[in-house]
Amino acid sequence: MAADPVQTNRDDAIDRLGYAAATANYREVLANPEVDVVSICSPNFLHRELALAAVEARKPLWLEKPMGRSVDESRAITAAVEAAGLVSCVGFNYR
Ligand SMILES: NC(=O)c1ccc[n+]([C@@H]2O[C@H](COP(=O)([O-])OP(=O)(O)OC[C@H]3O[C@@H](n4cnc5c(N)ncnc54)[C@H](O)[C@@H]3O)[C@@H](O)[C@H]2O)c1
Repeated sequence: MAADPVQTNRDDAIDRLGYAAATANYREVLANPEVDVVSICSPNFLHRELALAAVEARKPLWLEKPMGRSVDESRAITAAVEAAGLVSCVGFNYR
């Protein structure tokens, strides 16, 4: 299941990328028990919000670089993931 507030991006997720479903509200993805892991590829200003929500939902996560917009944001994500004991990864594909 993909989440994106933009309708054309949701359509693309299903038609081109093969997602089974798409929603405008990422919390629907986090609430879905069939979702085992999440990939957070939103704009940077949302990384902390989405990562902490994923941890709260107990979903292992892949988070695109940069983790946060500051050291404090990145540390908050790290602390939450470690406290929850979840597997996580930061994407640096092009680096
Ligand atoms: N791993 C790498 O090497 C690599 C390479 C490029 C970009 N990135 C990172 O990937 C992230 C995305 O980059 P991009 O160039 O694809 O940006 P983009 O702006 O093209 O795409 C971001 C997407 O997030 C969606 N979005 C916005 N608000 C949202 C929300 N509340 N919930 C769900 N989706 C939401 C947007 O509609 C858009 O489709 C950035 O953090 C960027 O730094 C990583």
